Amino acid sequence: MTSTLFPPSLDTASAPMRLADRIAQQLAWSEDEFEAHYADPSLLAELVNWVGELGTAAAAGDADAQFAQQYLLSRIYAVHTQLPSGPTAEGSVALHAVTRRLEQDTIRNEDAWIDEAVYASIPDDPDAFVPWLKALTREHQAFKHPYYRSFIRDHATEEDFRRFVLHESSVDGRFDDLLALMQVGTDGGVKLEIAQNFWDEMGNGDPAMVHTTLFGRLIDHFGITSTELAESLSTEALLSGNLAVMLCRYRNTFAEAVGLLAVTEWLAPDRFSQVLHGWERLGLPDDGITYHRLHIGIDAHHASAWFTNVVKPMTADPRNRRAIARGALWRLNTSSRYLDRIIGLNAAA
Ligand SMILES: [Fe+2]
Ligand SMILES: [Fe+2]
Repeated sequence: MTSTLFPPSLDTASAPMRLADRIAQQLAWSEDEFEAHYADPSLLAELVNWVGELGTAAAAGDADAQFAQQYLLSRIYAVHTQLPSGPTAEGSVALHAVTRRLEQDTIRNEDAWIDEAVYASIPDDPDAFVPWLKALTREHQAFKHPYYRSFIRDHATEEDFRRFVLHESSVDGRFDDLLALMQVGTDGGVKLEIAQNFWDEMGNGDPAMVHTTLFGRLIDHFGITSTELAESLSTEALLSGNLAVMLCRYRNTFAEAVGLLAVTEWLAPDRFSQVLHGWERLGLPDDGITYHRLHIGIDAHHASAWFTNVVKPMTADPRNRRAIARGALWRLNTSSRYLDRIIGLNAAA
């Protein structure tokens, strides 16, 4: 590594996070500044190469590299999904090269968690696909995971709930934007279903009932700061949020996004029933649990409508069946690792 990009005192092997953070800071440069800085092709190649090395280390199980990789991707996605308060490098071609390296490595890693044999069991009959997908989900460890069925329900303290809400923010805190990203390019019944789901997210027009506003009340209840939201997430929480953004922002992965959303909506009602039970067990204020109470009913409806109006019409094409299954498995596998990690952290505490 040359010293132009990284100070010589920084050791890339032992401090991936410090380097990722350095690049994250450069996201506040303007597009022109970012482009000018990496105008030298060898410097850009060095940067992309380093990101690739990060991916290799992450794939090999290096926890620091995994965190740095997902942290950097989350900071880049913040540039693409939040309105800026100053300059950003959003339009930079050099930044896009970095982003694609991070995304491709993340995809490769998630695919490695999938047993290829699963794809061979996808039914040829399109009508049999939804029951097959549901059976696959029911058999997965993420379905009725002990984190919800036991820990949150019967044991979690208020501090545990605080951590739960903090980590859930990576997906729940911006679900409406994910739907909006997904909708681009769709039409007919699929577009209508996404629109209906989106309108529910908007509280059907009642500003006080907008879902992200309701989720924000939980954030406020626990006094979680924006710095915490940006800096305190685990690798698995960052990955869950990043995967959702990645699949929803690219048209090429629309079918994967459909699978990811299907599982997310389908799992929510049972999970949130356990959250509600734990919340009431602790006697926490009723106002704070509105978001979860509401979703127990609304997501049951969202899930069945999603399967009927979005998944089913796509199943005639075998490529869609495979891609929907892939997105669903990415969601199930990441959710499982994420919940295992929290349980492991609690056991170690
Ligand atoms: Fe919602
Ligand atoms: Fe929903």
